[in-house]
Amino acid sequence: LENGLLRTPPMGWLAWERFRCNTNCDEDPENCIRWGQRVAGRLEEEAGEKLFMEMADRLAQDGWRDLGYTYLNIDDCWSGGRDTQGRLVADSKRFPRGIAFLAHYAHSLGLKLGIYGDLGNFTCMGFPGTTLDKVVQDAATFAEWKVDMLKLDGCFSTHEDRALGYPKMAAALNATGRPIAFSCSWPAYEGGLPPKVNYSELANICNLWRNYGDIQDSWESVLSILDWFVQYQDVLQPAAGPGRWNDPDMLLIGNFGLSLEQARSQMALWTVLAAPLFMSTDLRSIAPRHVDILQNPLMIKINQDPLGIQGRRILKDQAHIEVFLRPLANEAYALVFFSRRQDMPYRYRTSLAQMNLTSAKLYEAQNVYTGDIISGLQDKTNITVIVNPSGVVMWYLYPIRKQGRSQD
Ligand code: DGJ
Repeated sequence: LENGLLRTPPMGWLAWERFRCNTNCDEDPENCIRWGQRVAGRLEEEAGEKLFMEMADRLAQDGWRDLGYTYLNIDDCWSGGRDTQGRLVADSKRFPRGIAFLAHYAHSLGLKLGIYGDLGNFTCMGFPGTTLDKVVQDAATFAEWKVDMLKLDGCFSTHEDRALGYPKMAAALNATGRPIAFSCSWPAYEGGLPPKVNYSELANICNLWRNYGDIQDSWESVLSILDWFVQYQDVLQPAAGPGRWNDPDMLLIGNFGLSLEQARSQMALWTVLAAPLFMSTDLRSIAPRHVDILQNPLMIKINQDPLGIQGRRILKDQAHIEVFLRPLANEAYALVFFSRRQDMPYRYRTSLAQMNLTSAKLYEAQNVYTGDIISGLQDKTNITVIVNPSGVVMWYLYPIRKQGRSQD
């Protein structure tokens, strides 16, 4: 969507995968979906039970915001229904000062706030939805609250509702005059593929879109999403670009289902796919080894490359090594060597020429995770990378000036 927003993939934190629809604040006060609570009629803000404010604090104070992780996104289960004028209101127990306060709090920390809605009678978890007749009013409410992104889900909607509703919401958001990035679950509810999904049309309506099913906290889930994105890369890859991104769903890094190798793999693969980087983990307790993956500056630079070209899987070796390539600005590339093996670290031998990178240029590569520099690479130079089972080796590959030859 050409609204000037998300010229690079959005980065931030999204509540859903880790915190789901946990509204059990009595038994699970630290993790339930709210930002504060009332104790004996008084607002209790110091209790450490304010999920969104605490995540906002962590984003601002622990280096995330300054690296680009600026969105703090609420998902389902925030709503308390509609008021007498039909306006959406937040649950008054779990969000006692409402969403506008949270937006103000996020903005005061240099962050942006995302909200969630659903184009049906109900959200997936049964909260009030935004039916077609409510689209304009809800867009106005979100703008009044000074929200910066809307994720519009599709549970309990029909094909026709979606065909009318997503464009209608895009127009309604635009009409508010407030820049609000628009995340559409539309294609995910249409099977994600043409002819039911028209990606050029989608790119005019949404800034990002969920193409496929929900991620769950497991490696199996990561692989199922990756496999689908690779299988249909000819359709998906050209759809992405500045202002319009495919969204393979949240990062699991920091949670329970992935090994360290797998966490590194998800980060590298999502980065070559030019995917949104929405963490969904508890930033209050995330381990340093996971922070290192998510805060790798070269990784983020690659994800946020200004050309915004989505990468592709370019090779699938019999040895169960796959190579992904993403073209970057300044004639550079990101390369990911990904192992599907389950035995031991594998020595993968290749060359730039074998990866169809045939040029007379001299290249250098930086290993994104170790920082090691590999220099003197020409198209026929033998390359060996050692890839761990379910792991990756990721390179930032860039041309360097040949000595004694003037740059032309
Ligand atoms: C389905 C979406 O795909 C998820 O990301 C999440 O938003 C849930 N609905 C919430 O109910």
